[in-house]
Amino acid sequence: MKCVAVVVLLSLLSRGRSAPLSSCENLTKPITISKDEMLGKWLYIGGSSDLPGSRSLGHLMTSVWLDVTATTESNILTLHQTHRVHGKCSSLIFNVTFENSVMVIEQPFYLKEIYLPTDCSNCLVAYEEITSGEDMFTSLMLFSKTNSVSPAALEMFRNQVECFQMPLAIMMNPNAEICPDDISPSEGISALNSLFEAKMGHRVARILDSLFDMFVN
Ligand SMILES: *[C@@H]1O[C@H](CO)[C@@H](O)[C@H](O)[C@H]1NC(C)=O
Ligand SMILES: *[C@@H]1O[C@H](CO)[C@@H](O)[C@H](O)[C@H]1NC(C)=O
Repeated sequence: MKCVAVVVLLSLLSRGRSAPLSSCENLTKPITISKDEMLGKWLYIGGSSDLPGSRSLGHLMTSVWLDVTATTESNILTLHQTHRVHGKCSSLIFNVTFENSVMVIEQPFYLKEIYLPTDCSNCLVAYEEITSGEDMFTSLMLFSKTNSVSPAALEMFRNQVECFQMPLAIMMNPNAEICPDDISPSEGISALNSLFEAKMGHRVARILDSLFDMFVN
């Protein structure tokens, strides 16, 4: 009797609080998604990343949205990303390959994005792997067509973050001011490359990240 109780207790402990391991298999299983389902305006709700500097940026960045449009080439989508960082709006425009439910950027770094299940019908959960030289970074992001996402969908997303054993997600303030859609885009994807290539900067960025987490949490 005692022995059974210990086993039950141990298995309860090892399952963790909110993301039972048994459900992780379902929560992290890629979904199929059509090109049409990718199109439109997506508001960034929140996410988690192990990219150095991303947590500092996550606290400075108050709103982000993406406009995904089709091009004349069936497997190419154009992403127009507008973000407000430290109160200032700017935007980037770049092309990505989208085929068989996978988004890929090949240059100047390699990025692969797949999509995971969500309870919310107008949401998108993206799991991203970025390879830059010998470094690999992962991010998990929640997007939505509207700025209100149900607590259940948020909870499911937090469980997905936990399944991947990633840092606690940083969620955007749903009432934050959104940038207008007439910001002229600049630079393109190459602007982001400096972020991944800044190897020397990674240590500094990690320190910044922990400082930000300390002050904000
Ligand atoms: C995972 O998905 C399968 C098939 O849809 C289902 O039968 C099973 O109950 C799910 N498991 C959990 C833990 O949700
Ligand atoms: C994206 O691809 C389309 C179709 O090939 C092309 O017309 C457009 O100029 C490209 N845009 C960018 C930002 O590279």
